[in-house]
Amino acid sequence: MVYFDVIIVGSGVAGLSAAVSAAEQGLDVCVLTKEKEISECNTFYAQGGIVSDGENDSTGLLVKDIMAAGSNINCIGAVRYVAKQGPKTVQEYLIGKAKVPFCRKEDNSLDWTREAAHSVRRILHAKDESGKAIELGLLSYAEKFKSITFLNEYVAIDIITNTHHSRRSEERYRKPRALGVYALDLKKEVVVPLFSGAVILAAGGVGNLFQHTSNPKGAVGDGVAMAYRAGAAILNAEFVQFHPTVLFHRDVKRFLISESLRGEGAKLMNRNGEYFMSRYNQEQKDLAPRDEVARAIYREIEMDGNGYVYLDTTCIKDISLPDRFPAIYTTCKSVGIDISKEPVPVVPAAHYFCGGIKVDLSGKTSIKNLYAAGENACTGVHGANRLASVSLLEGLVYGVHIGKNIKDEIRKPKKELIASIPEWIYPRAEEDFDPVLINHDMINIQMTMWNYAGIVRTQKRLTRVRNDLNYLSHRIEQFYKTAKLSRDIIELRNAVVTAGIIAEAALKNQTSIGCHYIR
Ligand code: SIN
Repeated sequence: MVYFDVIIVGSGVAGLSAAVSAAEQGLDVCVLTKEKEISECNTFYAQGGIVSDGENDSTGLLVKDIMAAGSNINCIGAVRYVAKQGPKTVQEYLIGKAKVPFCRKEDNSLDWTREAAHSVRRILHAKDESGKAIELGLLSYAEKFKSITFLNEYVAIDIITNTHHSRRSEERYRKPRALGVYALDLKKEVVVPLFSGAVILAAGGVGNLFQHTSNPKGAVGDGVAMAYRAGAAILNAEFVQFHPTVLFHRDVKRFLISESLRGEGAKLMNRNGEYFMSRYNQEQKDLAPRDEVARAIYREIEMDGNGYVYLDTTCIKDISLPDRFPAIYTTCKSVGIDISKEPVPVVPAAHYFCGGIKVDLSGKTSIKNLYAAGENACTGVHGANRLASVSLLEGLVYGVHIGKNIKDEIRKPKKELIASIPEWIYPRAEEDFDPVLINHDMINIQMTMWNYAGIVRTQKRLTRVRNDLNYLSHRIEQFYKTAKLSRDIIELRNAVVTAGIIAEAALKNQTSIGCHYIR
């Protein structure tokens, strides 16, 4: 039997910060990732940065900005907690322990940037590769702990619970409790039960459920789907944030054009050369909340019919773009766009899941010994829409909090209970499934979600998405039960479950609010 004190599914900022803080408490931790590289996750691709306490800033001002972006339906306790603990935790873990090389000014003080809907400059950044710097810093700190085991190329399939899996009939009358996970070892092609005293889901977002996204391919809602199947409560699933500006180009997909470019002065422009944001928000213009900017672009594209607008980066005057935004500059240059001389074609794309697995202030889900942190969790911090650069902060603060406090909650399952959990039961067919069928179903989900549950929703569109997903989910469940298990099939099964949860929540909430916009 393989046992760890804590199993963490996911290796982004939330997973790694939970891992290091649990290891600091003397716990044995296992971090599972389905990817080859431990650092391959949403965190790695975050460009803008992480909120901390900036110039002329205060906890109260940050709380106000987060609440305003979230349309005031945020959980105030969670917002206050993150706003208060955030700057300290950034200092202690990211600057102190993980030695993240945030940009500094000539006098060595930290350099703050600005993004939409922030009252002051308060975002710490590592040029335009802030997520990468945070991820690699945390990873190298985590690698110092012998008590952290990294299992890469392990796909978590389901959470093992006493109520779902135990063969002892009395367990079904007890409260559900997480005992570990079943995971597919991709290298050996076997499913192993991994047991633990607690499971933390930090499995990232849902962007890849949509045709256009800034997220990496693996972001299909694995954590949400696993928690849902285990019976955990899911909250605010209708709130999917669309980032206004992802590069529009045939050869480069999923490449974000950071909001901090607008923070430094770039302006959105339609194809007639008009800076259009003042027509939509006179006061904040290009720095209006993301949902407003994304909808304005959607509207401009609808009117013009050409599929994209421009971000005019040439109006940024005081800074060198290759220097301050090297990744964006180089990627655009590689496809023939010089952002210091010409505007960049951009479109909105699915970016961040504001809903997720419902957790309390300690990161606990509705199932005993099951925790969630980061994008797959709904702490209530983001409400109906997320303020830029608050997500890495939320993942860090909750990850550290869970890791520091989990020790007293851990319960090693008794031998008899573990013995009552069956080995994985393989489907009868051992043949590989036809990849064309899997790909087609995934594309089907992505197109359906983008067109009917995207930036602008209507009741009719949402009814259609729900019905189409219902049909698809029966077919996919059949694949899953009969095909040889693979990463693709596990992801497809999770994708259809999570897409269905989003569609159902969107259909139920008939009030247009934040990033859930109904026309
Ligand atoms: C960006 O750099 O525009 C993204 C920042 C974020 O989503 O928080």
